[in-house]
Amino acid sequence: MSLHAAHDLLRCPHCAADLTADGPRWRCPAGHSFDVAKQGYLNLANGPEPANADTPAMLEARARVQASGLFDVVSEALDQQVPLTGATTLLEAGAGTGHYLAGLVEGRPGARGLALDVSRAAARRASRAHHRVASVVADVWRGLPVRTASLDVVLCVFAPRNLAEFARVLRPDGTLLIATPTAGHLAELRERYGLLGIDDDKHDRLLAAASEYFAHEHTAVAKSLTSQVAAAVVDDLIGMGPNAFHNPPRAAGAETVRLAVRVSRFTPLAA
Ligand SMILES: C[S@@+](CC[C@H](N)C(=O)[O-])C[C@H]1O[C@@H](n2cnc3c(N)ncnc32)[C@H](O)[C@@H]1O
Ligand SMILES: [Zn+2]
Repeated sequence: MSLHAAHDLLRCPHCAADLTADGPRWRCPAGHSFDVAKQGYLNLANGPEPANADTPAMLEARARVQASGLFDVVSEALDQQVPLTGATTLLEAGAGTGHYLAGLVEGRPGARGLALDVSRAAARRASRAHHRVASVVADVWRGLPVRTASLDVVLCVFAPRNLAEFARVLRPDGTLLIATPTAGHLAELRERYGLLGIDDDKHDRLLAAASEYFAHEHTAVAKSLTSQVAAAVVDDLIGMGPNAFHNPPRAAGAETVRLAVRVSRFTPLAA
């Protein structure tokens, strides 16, 4: 989607004023200005990437895993939580490749999406994810460069969540969807290859933190067990996540892969 089609959703990350497109730069009245990259995304961060931004190699690995269909159960679980009509403006925070956002937008003909990620490599990929998805670089911890009460859905899949900001940008009847791994997610691979573990209290902590801004409506667990996942896909599964920062081992061969991902739906508390 052209960035211009997302114009009414965006605002200056520094002073919250509206932005005006001026050729390859967007400006606010106070003089803050931001570059449109030649790949089509708008860089609203203007600073160095933090250490946990996904690298190009992680993005490529993630895209190949998503293209393999292994994570389709997660897409389906997200899809079931979003109404087919009425949800027209969607944001994915920490969108990575933009895969999950593109899937939701594709299934809803009138919908458009905004992919937001702190990684420029992610923003490049997400700008090609779907013709109704626009892509911006921004850091969720610096406040979302998004207008207040402008969105029907905020999606956050395996990514950092700024709950106060998610509450601000959602309409009062909007939906927040958060996907997080359960302790069983990729359990066999974690054990076999010594990968980073998943803290089982995570979900309780999410519910407690979210309760300040949101009512928890529903949690489903998307599960699958796939045998004979090719070694190349297993390598990508290991390489697409935070293990990539810790010199991970190579896959010994085809593996059985268990997915177990929680998808939780929230609605904003009345202001
Ligand atoms: C594990 S990946 C998940 C990507 C995507 N949601 C998916 O599931 O395919 C986490 C993403 O969050 C992004 N990220 C990390 N810190 C961030 C921040 N402070 N603001 C925005 N995005 C961030 C990373 O660059 C990465 O693309
Ligand atoms: Zn400004």
